[in-house]
Amino acid sequence: MTDLLIDKLPKAELHLHIEGTLEPEMMLALAKRNNVTLPYDTVEEIRAAYDFDGLQDFLDLYYAGMSVLIEERDFHDLTWAYLEKMANQGVTHVEIFFDPQGHTDRGVAFETALGGIVTALEQGQREFGITSRLIMCFLRHLPEEQAFDALHSACRHKEHIHAVGLDSGEAGNPPENFVRVYAAARAEGFLAVAHAGEEGPAQYVTDALDILCVSRVDHGNHALDDPALVARLARQKTPLTMCPLSNLRLRGIATMEDHPLKRAMDAGLLVTVNSDDPSYFGGYINDNYRAVKDALSLSPDDIVTLAKNSFAASFLPDKEKQAGIDAVARHADGFARDAD
Ligand code: ADE
Ligand code: ZN
Repeated sequence: MTDLLIDKLPKAELHLHIEGTLEPEMMLALAKRNNVTLPYDTVEEIRAAYDFDGLQDFLDLYYAGMSVLIEERDFHDLTWAYLEKMANQGVTHVEIFFDPQGHTDRGVAFETALGGIVTALEQGQREFGITSRLIMCFLRHLPEEQAFDALHSACRHKEHIHAVGLDSGEAGNPPENFVRVYAAARAEGFLAVAHAGEEGPAQYVTDALDILCVSRVDHGNHALDDPALVARLARQKTPLTMCPLSNLRLRGIATMEDHPLKRAMDAGLLVTVNSDDPSYFGGYINDNYRAVKDALSLSPDDIVTLAKNSFAASFLPDKEKQAGIDAVARHADGFARDAD
């Protein structure tokens, strides 16, 4: 029953790497279109490689997969395929990451990637009414100097890029390495988010708040290890964009029953459910809602709270946030009436 509620419940997705939506079928098709040689010949071979023993193991494949994205239309097709799926999952707003350094490092221009993503997002608004924000991530395994190059490019496209983020391998790449580029980005008017506490310790979450001045934490699972930090996140209403299937597939948790999402909700945190890299982790946003619903015995009210949180935690203006929250409430009421 609750699965049916999840299906069309209005929701926002706030933690999604567009490059992580590259399905094996599209990877093979783009490899052919662009004359790129891959170490795989079939969809089955690609899927068989998606057996990760941790974040770095995944990232190696994720960056290799990007090699098929060359032309602007590749980025458009990738983003469009994602939006078509979201239109069928109740998603009315998306805030998506892209990794420009993953493209510029292999000779694909910043504007090529950005242009394809933006034209698809604009088409998504026209055809599906899906609103969007774009977040440019710095790759934390690379030097801060290179993050500055990405920031300088982003400054030429402020009308399309809303915030900066920090992703890639967390262990050994602490927030403090990016203090200067975050300060510069905020001074340029970008909002800030960062992956923290995915594999790294609670201290990285504290540092993301204190020294990168993020307004939202991506993942944040290990924040739960520090009771004082949990109290602070609850007090400040700092959102966490959690990604359950990602955590399971990257072995951050042994089973979904171990996921900290319900504990975080019970502690009063503004928790949201997202898919991270759905093609690689076996499910899009509604699969993530269903996975935590089943494993953590979430009630219909919990599901409604998570969907409302997704709008409350978004970068939408207050009026649009409230419209999203009201749409969730209306849908939930209608669903309850039909069930009687
Ligand atoms: N890049 C894409 N997915 C990521 C994740 N889950 N963590 C860090 N960097 C990423
Ligand atoms: Zn992520």
